[in-house]
Order: sequence, then C-alpha cells, then structure tokens
Amino acid sequence: MRRFGVICLVSTFFALMHDSAGLPARAALPGLPDEDSRAGHDSPAGEGSDLRGVVEAKLELLTDPPDDSESVRSVIALDEEIHHLLEKLAPKDRPQDGSSKPLLLLAEADLPEATEYLRAVFETSSERRADAAQALALAVRLKPVESEDWQFLVRSLAVVEGPQAVDVMTTLLRFPQRATRGHWIRQVILTGLQLSDTDREVALKLLRHWSGQPRGSKNSPGWSLPEYQQWFANEYPNEPAAELPTEVAGRKWKEASVFRMIQSQVWTPDMEATAIEAFQKANCHQCHKRSELGNHFGPDLTTLGWRRSRKEIVRSLIFPSHELNEEYPAVVVLLADGRQLAGLMAAAGSDRMLIIGSDLKRTEFAKSDVEEIRQQSISNMPDGGLEVLDERQIIALVHWLGSTSGVPRPHIE
Ligand code: HEC
Repeated sequence: MRRFGVICLVSTFFALMHDSAGLPARAALPGLPDEDSRAGHDSPAGEGSDLRGVVEAKLELLTDPPDDSESVRSVIALDEEIHHLLEKLAPKDRPQDGSSKPLLLLAEADLPEATEYLRAVFETSSERRADAAQALALAVRLKPVESEDWQFLVRSLAVVEGPQAVDVMTTLLRFPQRATRGHWIRQVILTGLQLSDTDREVALKLLRHWSGQPRGSKNSPGWSLPEYQQWFANEYPNEPAAELPTEVAGRKWKEASVFRMIQSQVWTPDMEATAIEAFQKANCHQCHKRSELGNHFGPDLTTLGWRRSRKEIVRSLIFPSHELNEEYPAVVVLLADGRQLAGLMAAAGSDRMLIIGSDLKRTEFAKSDVEEIRQQSISNMPDGGLEVLDERQIIALVHWLGSTSGVPRPHIE
C-alpha cells in the first residue's frame, strides 16, 4: 500500500524547482572530433556501399596496438576519420566492428594518452558509450585497476548489452568497490535478465559482490535473479521494480521495430521541420523544452543527445516509467482551499506555481496556498505518446532529439 514515495517539505521542494534550463558549460575535452560537424551529411543513394568500402579499407590499416605516443596519436586520428565516415552511414550499413576496433586497439596500448581518449569518447559520444566502455574494460584487465575507470564502467551498465555487458561486469568484479545505489543494482539485474543462462552467472556474481547477499560463506549457493528481484523490491522500495518493461498490447509502435526504423537512416538537418511538427503533434512540447520550444515541466531535452543514445531515447519514449528521473517527480499538491492537484510542477514566476496533469490540463496557484506536497513514484510522462505519429515523423523526432549538432556540451551526470 505504498502510494507515495517521499513526502517532502514544501520549502525544500521549491528550493529544488527549476524554471530555467541553463546547465553549466563543460570544458571541451582534448583530442576529439568536433561533434557539431558530424550531422548534416547527406548520404545520396548509391554512395553507401562506396563509403562502407572506404571505412573497411581504413579499418584494415589498424593491425597492432600502438606502442608509443606517436602511434597512439595516429590511431586516434584514424578513429576520428572513421567515426566521421560512419556518421554518414545508416547504422545498419556500418561494418560491425567499425566503431569498436580502433578503441580496442587503443585499450591494448596501455599508455595514458590512449586511456584518456577512451574516457573522452565515453563522455562525449553517447552513441559510442558502450564501445568505449568495452575498451576501458579491456584496458583495466590488462593493468592494475584504477578507481576512475570503475566509475565509467558502472555508468556504462545502462548501455552495454550481450558480450559487451559480460566484459564490463567481469571487469567490475575485479574492483573491491561496491555500487550500492539502487539505480546501479537494478541495472545489473536488468542486464542479467537479458543475458543467456551461462552469461548470466557474471551478473549474479556481481550482484553478490555489491549487495553482500545472500550472507554467509562465499562457497555457499548464491541467489537466482528472481531472488535478487524480490530482495531489491524490499530493499529499495522507492526505485522502479527491477523488471524488464513489457510492450502494451495493441500498440502500433514497439521498441524493437522503432529502433530498427531509426537505424535505417542517418540524421540530416532537413528532417528538422518534420521533427518539430512531430514534437508538437505528440504533445511533447507541453512538458519538455528543446531550445526555445516548449515548456519545462519535464526534463529539458535540448542537450539530450549528449547524454543519451538513440537506443535509450527510443526506450524512454516507449516505456516512460522504466527509468524515473528523480529531479522531475510526479507530485500531489494539497492547497489551502482543499483542492488536490496531481501532476508535474514548474515555477510560474517568483510566487506562483503551475502544475500539469497527465491529461495535460494546467492549473496555476500561489506558492503561499500550498499546504503539502507529496511525491509519487510513477512517471507523469504518458506512454503511447508515439501512437499519433507515422514512421517518417518518429524517425525525424528521435534523430532530432538525439542529435548534438549546434548544441553546446553540458555537464554529464
Ligand atoms: C505530461 C508531461 C510529458 C509529456 C506530454 C511528455 N513527457 Fe517526456 N518526460 C516527462 C517526464 C516527467 C520525464 C522524466 C522521467 C520520468 O520521471 O518519467 C520525461 C522523460 C522523457 C525523456 C527521457 C529524458 C532523459 O533525460 O533521459 C525523453 C527522451 C522524453 N521524455 C521525450 C518525450 C517526447 C518525445 C514526448 C512526446 C512524444 C514526451 N516526452 C512527452 C514528461 C512528459
């Protein structure tokens, strides 16, 4: 019967409210391609296979791990070149190891410049984050562990899958550090649920290492994933359940097919008009801002592409409650006149507030009329939001939200 997560003090809540979007600017990292220039490359019909050939030829130049600073620099230069070319190819047409091969070679180099580059790619290229994490995991296995890499590997759990997830989790087991935040424990359970029975063992080992559960000797039998799921629900009652999301029956758009659609194309600036039309048609602008467009009830999506890959964006559109953002809780406000308003809150001037319900209805009230604010642990983002859109609009919308062209780099996490 837990209806409300945290009941918070009205004043604390107001102190946390955000009515402007400005994230602090982040210093550019050295040695990276200019991400802004990566968008806008049209790939005229027929050019795709030529381009793929060019990329494959460049990949063949990469044979041995670099062994001095100069060769590290040339591998980095080649990686940048390859990356720019790959950006012009739809993901489905890219050579499979195109993004990861140069990074894995750099990982083997065991030179500080190489590791620094891998970390920079992780931070600044959301589409390459899983590849960078796999390379960092390899680098860590080849040398004594550094706690800085631990942070990257933990954060990558949200994006790695399959063999990359196994690599990252195997490496995390080498660190004495334990991640005890519910968010990370949940991520390991979710990743484990998607692995085969054999690969799942490493997730179970990591869960045991981090949670200290089940207690007792290390040689005693461990828990299964369902046992960890149950333990998690009791231990972290305010976190969303550690369960994979399920598709709603009868919906036109499903995660896997939408993601395939997205991968069939690259972003080009001429998609922007369609994207903006879709953003408004699906009512995204009622709750989200993107640059000058829309309202700030939910997260500002201007810099989304720096933080989230297209894959993560698709997931949050199809399953809004799968990841809750603690900064934008759904609330119930009790007013002095007895009214109760549920929804998302935003500031409307210095002494007034605005709440938007899940029916998108807005109500304004004075801060001084607020008696109590309760936080709810559900998402206020309606699911099924994409149902009103067609294929062309969804492709444009997701690429537009994920593109970083012309968007300054924000702080990450
Ligand atoms: C009623 C308000 C509302 C509407 C309408 C809405 N969202 Fe959201 N959205 C939210 C909230 C609140 C969150 C924060 C996550 C959470 O707790 O659910 C969110 C999260 C997101 C995220 C994840 C952001 C991040 O930082 O990772 C994306 C992407 C997103 N919304 C896109 C959209 C798009 C695209 C549409 C239109 C199809 C849309 N939203 C419609 C309220 C809304």
